[in-house]
Amino acid sequence: MSTEKFLPVEFCKGNNGLDKVVLRESRGSSAEVYLYGGHVTSWKNDHGEELLFVSSKATFKPPKAIRGGIPICFPQFASLGSLESHGFARNRFWSIDTDPPAFPTNSSSKAYIDLILRPSEEDLKIWPHSFEFRLRVALTPGGDLMLISRVRNTSTDGKPFSFTFAYHTYFSVSDISEVRVEGLETLDYLDNLQNKERFTEQGDAITFESEVDKIYLSTPTKIAILDHEKKRTFVIRKDGLPDAVVWNPWDKKAKAMADFGDDEYKHMLCVEAAAVEKPITLKPGEEWKGRLELSGVPSSYCSGQLDPQKVLSSS
Ligand code: BG6
Repeated sequence: MSTEKFLPVEFCKGNNGLDKVVLRESRGSSAEVYLYGGHVTSWKNDHGEELLFVSSKATFKPPKAIRGGIPICFPQFASLGSLESHGFARNRFWSIDTDPPAFPTNSSSKAYIDLILRPSEEDLKIWPHSFEFRLRVALTPGGDLMLISRVRNTSTDGKPFSFTFAYHTYFSVSDISEVRVEGLETLDYLDNLQNKERFTEQGDAITFESEVDKIYLSTPTKIAILDHEKKRTFVIRKDGLPDAVVWNPWDKKAKAMADFGDDEYKHMLCVEAAAVEKPITLKPGEEWKGRLELSGVPSSYCSGQLDPQKVLSSS
């Protein structure tokens, strides 16, 4: 056995000397979080397999957001407002929150980190609202990845503010044409490729054969991504996040992105737990919470049975 001390939370330097936090669970799973963007860039299972996609061309150079992992879109999703695309939280330097409020948790895991983002003077010029954004990133003993966001209106001017939000999760998949998404059938969506026109999804699980950029509305709290080739299923559980954005740029848009490999679209899929259609409004003193829990389970998983615990305990 290794004599090295096992560290559930390790502070170190990542690409380009950026500050990074590594979380580890004793059974072998791990996660990495950059303070730049409050950005999760890695999530590995007990076998050391990477479950998130990060582009080989990601620059890790501020002010560009990191291409892949889990960018935090706040206070604006995409171009739904006057700010830069997806807001500014993903390209600001977050701090370690040394005095986080109690987070209700039923896990004994020590593998977690609390980050905080407060607006700078410059941020207040483009978005004139005082806020505190607290982000907890945690690994459960079973290797699930949990992100809990708390946004509080700390204004003293008596004014409410509104925002849109997404956990822009890039999942790693074997081959996009072998993947299907369950949980979004028959739902309404806004199609970003057709002027955000509203359509209704058909009854089958979603499969991919061309570019997709859709905002599914009023989605269930569980969504599954089934990867046949990898024999892996991702289960996404979410709270406080009614919408789900599904994005794959496909070949043409992939080529147009400088920080994305031409063929990498085949190996990623974004399914983003989000609050987009109805912005969240907070009065001074009010707080919003949005929670994401990701599991990667073997694909002995049965269609329609969205409970990975049952799958694991029956295997
Ligand atoms: C998705 C949007 O969430 O993010 C797409 O729906 C967008 O429209 C994509 O192209 C990537 O955005 P960005 O700003 O990271 O290139």
